Amino acid sequence: MEKTFAMVKPDGVQRGLVGTILQRYEQKGLKLVAAKLMNVSRELAEEHYREHASKPFFNELIEYITSGPVFAMVLEGENAIKLVRLLNGATKVEEALPGTIRGDFATSTTCNLVHASDSPESASREIKLWFPEL
Ligand code: CMP
Repeated sequence: MEKTFAMVKPDGVQRGLVGTILQRYEQKGLKLVAAKLMNVSRELAEEHYREHASKPFFNELIEYITSGPVFAMVLEGENAIKLVRLLNGATKVEEALPGTIRGDFATSTTCNLVHASDSPESASREIKLWFPEL
């Protein structure tokens, strides 16, 4: 069964949306196999987002993701990687359709509530990075 990494970002935790977001994944049929509420070090944030290191929004992104606790998860199911991305909605806030988590709750492209791995390679790398104990 495929596994993916997902996270409710600091704005989602702050707004009390962890339960609502997790419910969407679970209602779809994905199984929560690991989870933790945690503060993110600068080192972990920079490693997680290393592919964006040269982007103009990188510093803002690191400040945001380290600004408060996140809810990190491993979800499992058939096509879990694609399904969680679909449930999250498009990264750009103006492209996130109603019915998706970002479409329904996010108003900013940086503070876009959730993250999910975008490929099997990212899922494997991110699960190891965020859950080294697994
Ligand atoms: P995420 O799916 O976690 O992957 C990279 C993150 O960078 C993204 O969600 C947003 O939080 C942020 N991001 C992506 N594109 C932009 C952008 N154009 N401007 C600001 N932040 C962005």
